[in-house]
Amino acid sequence: MVAAMRLAALASVVPFLSSTFAAGIPPVRRQETSSSAVPTTSPSSSSQLTTVPASTTSLGSAPVTSPSSASSLSSSSDSSFTSSSALTSSAPVVTSNTSSVATTTPIPSTVSATPAPSPTPVSQPSGGIGFNTTPTYKPQSDFDFQSLNLGLHQELIELDLFHHGLAIFNESDFAAAGLSEDDMFLIEFMADQEVGHATLISNILAPNITQQCTYQYPNFTGVRDFIDFCQKVTRFGESGTIGFLAHLDAQDTASLLMDSITTESRQQMVFRQFEGLFPMPFWFVPSITQSMQWTLLSPYISTCPAENPAVDWTIFPPLTILDNPYFPDTPLDNNTEPAITHNRTQATYLGREVLLSWEAPGAQTGFNGSFTTHSSAGQPQFAAWISQLNTTYTALSNITTANGTTNATTIQPGGEVYGNGTAALINGTVYAQLRSLPQCAADLLYRFLLVTDAAPYVTPYNLSEIEPHIVAGPALYSSG
Ligand SMILES: *[C@@H]1O[C@H](CO)[C@@H](O)[C@H](O)[C@H]1NC(C)=O
Ligand SMILES: *[C@@H]1O[C@H](CO)[C@@H](O)[C@H](O)[C@H]1NC(C)=O
Ligand SMILES: *[C@@H]1O[C@H](CO)[C@@H](O)[C@H](O)[C@H]1NC(C)=O
Ligand SMILES: *[C@@H]1O[C@H](CO)[C@@H](O)[C@H](O)[C@H]1NC(C)=O
Ligand SMILES: *[C@@H]1O[C@H](CO)[C@@H](O)[C@H](O)[C@H]1NC(C)=O
Ligand SMILES: *[C@@H]1O[C@H](CO)[C@@H](O)[C@H](O)[C@H]1NC(C)=O
Ligand SMILES: *[C@@H]1O[C@H](CO)[C@@H](O)[C@H](O)[C@H]1NC(C)=O
Ligand SMILES: *[C@@H]1O[C@H](CO)[C@@H](O)[C@H](O)[C@H]1NC(C)=O
Ligand SMILES: *[C@@H]1O[C@H](CO)[C@@H](O)[C@H](O)[C@H]1NC(C)=O
Ligand SMILES: *[C@@H]1O[C@H](CO)[C@@H](O)[C@H](O)[C@H]1NC(C)=O
Ligand SMILES: *[C@@H]1O[C@H](CO)[C@@H](O)[C@H](O)[C@H]1NC(C)=O
Ligand SMILES: *[C@@H]1O[C@H](CO)[C@@H](O)[C@H](O)[C@H]1NC(C)=O
Repeated sequence: MVAAMRLAALASVVPFLSSTFAAGIPPVRRQETSSSAVPTTSPSSSSQLTTVPASTTSLGSAPVTSPSSASSLSSSSDSSFTSSSALTSSAPVVTSNTSSVATTTPIPSTVSATPAPSPTPVSQPSGGIGFNTTPTYKPQSDFDFQSLNLGLHQELIELDLFHHGLAIFNESDFAAAGLSEDDMFLIEFMADQEVGHATLISNILAPNITQQCTYQYPNFTGVRDFIDFCQKVTRFGESGTIGFLAHLDAQDTASLLMDSITTESRQQMVFRQFEGLFPMPFWFVPSITQSMQWTLLSPYISTCPAENPAVDWTIFPPLTILDNPYFPDTPLDNNTEPAITHNRTQATYLGREVLLSWEAPGAQTGFNGSFTTHSSAGQPQFAAWISQLNTTYTALSNITTANGTTNATTIQPGGEVYGNGTAALINGTVYAQLRSLPQCAADLLYRFLLVTDAAPYVTPYNLSEIEPHIVAGPALYSSG
């Protein structure tokens, strides 16, 4: 009942929800018919994101979309919303409804783009790539296709996840977590952003488009638990995407994905702020590989339509951190309310013993049970900590194996990204020296943790060289 009421409210935010999400059917992206500039594919399949061939969208040299079409992509511009009259405070808050005052000014019409003569180009320094080609915004290789398809899976789960939380928790539940209706609307708006991002990637991948799957989330104990999960999902989504952008053959496409992933980075930060954590406790967002991202994402996808394109990334054996700190319940300090920022004290520390457990390869996993976990590594020897620009190794101890599961311990390492006095990699004891950063900035971030059979030197651009050595993982270590 409550969920139904929430859905009714959501349906007014995102019109396509009313007939689809409420019935458990994946959302359909509807294009306003008033736009003649953007032909759509057949609307016959209601379970598909309506797709627009990239070459005919407003990208590149194609016609500019009409204002009505543009506004249809932004459900939040729906006039059914009114900003709260109680909004008089200008004090900083995590979210506030500061929508612009309604205007009666007629929407000005725009002019369609038309071919223009190409006089001498404006001079610029020599070099750079991609200036003498017309962008096509299509995958140029299997690598591109599979990377984008992974990105689409990521967008689709986030879309479903954000709606899921808004559907299972009501205003009182959010209020108990210190979150207002404005904050709830921000989550809904983030879901709308996912619609846009999924549309973008679908346009690029058409006609081979992954459709919405069904998902299996943890049984959230409350809103803070849900928010923490969102923070983790957006963390590996962001790290996975920035890991492959510079490797794409289609750099025109990479530029579009960059435009979407920067938005997703902000989502990740907002979820941290909703938890009262330090918003961006790093100097550099770590990159991970597609197979690392898929290893983290795939357990939450339960079933997918059989017609979905295959996913060709590897799923490594799952790695569990048995003593991972858990933010919502960790008594970091007495101030865990949502905030723009808090000086939250460390959740972990240099020298902490970390308990790891992982499975042998060969287990059936992934959506429709259609994947098998894989590792080509030899004997487990090291824990690899991927953080900032760096991959740091520590030795494994107390290795025991029984019934296909191996346990081991390792010790949380230190190190700073550029040496003394810069951002700590994982060293939680040097706060006094970290004048340039708040103490939580040194410690409160997730790290990707792997078990490996060797300790190769890798950097963000050649991180894939570690993959043959992965015994299990990654897992997200909640160091702060
Ligand atoms: C914030 O704006 C959204 C959409 O405009 C609306 O649904 C919501 O009720 C507003 N919240 C408050 C507290 O005014
Ligand atoms: C909100 O949902 C909770 C359960 O999650 C329930 O106990 C509570 O009564 C609901 N509150 C309202 C105002 O519907
Ligand atoms: C969530 O709860 C349901 C019903 O109790 C159970 O079947 C399912 O296994 C639980 N899921 C997780 C991830 O614990
Ligand atoms: C779609 O994917 C299939 C295999 O999954 C492939 O054979 C086909 O060439 C792809 N089509 C396009 C247009 O990429
Ligand atoms: C948190 O509150 C408890 C009890 O009120 C108090 O004993 C403790 O010192 C407080 N901790 C911090 C970090 O303020
Ligand atoms: C792991 O081994 C170290 C010594 O190598 C020991 O100090 C520690 O207590 C062991 N931890 C566990 C959980 O057995
Ligand atoms: C690993 O640790 C877990 C939790 O302590 C325990 O239940 C399990 O038996 C251990 N397995 C092995 C192989 O030591
Ligand atoms: C392995 O499985 C056997 C039989 O199910 C059980 O008795 C034993 O405790 C398990 N060992 C560990 C370390 O979990
Ligand atoms: C942590 O940082 C301190 C100060 O820079 C340094 O002395 C110590 O060796 C570091 N620990 C590790 C494990 O790197
Ligand atoms: C971290 O990576 C940066 C960039 O590659 C490098 O300059 C720095 O030395 C590394 N720091 C550590 C502690 O390895
Ligand atoms: C870092 O600081 C420690 C202690 O302050 C000092 O011993 C060490 O030489 C410094 N390392 C570098 C690379 O400056
Ligand atoms: C926050 O932490 C930083 C670094 O430890 C410290 O300099 C600053 O005084 C702290 N601010 C507050 C309000 O505690």
